[in-house]
Amino acid sequence: MAWKTLDDMDLAGKVVLTRVDINVPVDDGAVTDATRITRIKPTVDAIIAAGGTVVLLAHFGRPKGKVVPEMSLEITRQTLVDELGHPVAFATDCVGEVAAEALENLQDGAILLLENTRFHPGEEANDPDFAKQLAALGDIFCNDAFSAAHRAHASTEGIAHLLPSCAGRLMEAELKALDKALSTPDRPVVAVVGGAKVSTKLDLLTNLIEKVDTIVIGGGMANTFLAAQGHDVGKSLCEHDLAETARAVIAKAKDLGCEILLPTDVVVAREFKAGAENEVVPADQCPSDAMILDAGPDAVAAIVERFRKARTLVWNGPLGAFEIAPFNKATDAAAAAAAELSRGGKLISVAGGGDTVAALNGSGAAKDFTYVSTAGGAFLEWMEGKTLPGVAVLTQG
Ligand code: 3PG
Repeated sequence: MAWKTLDDMDLAGKVVLTRVDINVPVDDGAVTDATRITRIKPTVDAIIAAGGTVVLLAHFGRPKGKVVPEMSLEITRQTLVDELGHPVAFATDCVGEVAAEALENLQDGAILLLENTRFHPGEEANDPDFAKQLAALGDIFCNDAFSAAHRAHASTEGIAHLLPSCAGRLMEAELKALDKALSTPDRPVVAVVGGAKVSTKLDLLTNLIEKVDTIVIGGGMANTFLAAQGHDVGKSLCEHDLAETARAVIAKAKDLGCEILLPTDVVVAREFKAGAENEVVPADQCPSDAMILDAGPDAVAAIVERFRKARTLVWNGPLGAFEIAPFNKATDAAAAAAAELSRGGKLISVAGGGDTVAALNGSGAAKDFTYVSTAGGAFLEWMEGKTLPGVAVLTQG
């Protein structure tokens, strides 16, 4: 790998500005899913074990360059203490006197959490002066925020030009897993691309067609493809204006020898609500007053058959309206099959994206996947084949 890791740095006695992504879900003032926090523990532990001081740089929400009290990172402090097992001090600003003083007063072995970097307009503008103010606080920059690496911000990109920089343990793990899955995969490779809209996943489909052997299309996206083939999709979520685009994707895939797998049967209902009365129909026979909410059992069997023949699986997006039972069935069944194959060492499975991870966690399949990324937007951009600025800058030094 072309970037430095913590093992390449002399951390003893150094202040390590560690960019993490602790943009975690909260409800009523409490963190509801600490996954992103637990996943930074190896980096924090490694820095402390090597005699360094951990100063956490992070954003929270989208305050757009203003101080928004509800988006203070202080809300994560107790969870950081609980999950990381070290005392955590909090500075009410991420630059200047306030941050410098908090660092000076930091007790040995404690971590310093700096306030939301996005409270300053210089963060998202990647302003060199703001990056300089951040860099002034430390000796080394460690980027452990793969999930924010698609943003060219001062704390993810600008600062890396100013300090000796390296990837943290989570960043390393994400890059290795993702690289293995798409750049140097064991073949055949199957990609599952689901979710509501084709329009948000066009770049991804275009990139994947050139890289994988089969693309399973699910969710609302599949309806657009079915409609493009002349099938009535009734009241289903569907981007009819993208019919031509969907046909072009199918034609390009055919040229390149990439199989596009669409559902042959679907679950339809008249209402979009949990427990709605539903039936399974062939994919070309959706009643005109019904909507497609999930893939049917034959479709799932075909997907599982592709998984069995594959060596690598990359998954982004659910197969149906997984958030309302029973329309989670196809996603859960396919995920369970992938989990079983992965557990048996027959499949390398990598999944990412907010909805995907929620669906895999909900079904209990996530723990058996080879790798579950902490990233949402960054995972998507990586699957689209884009260069992530926060990663690219690490390879330059
Ligand atoms: C995420 O939650 O995906 C990252 O923290 C990035 O957040 P953003 O989309 O607000 O940049």
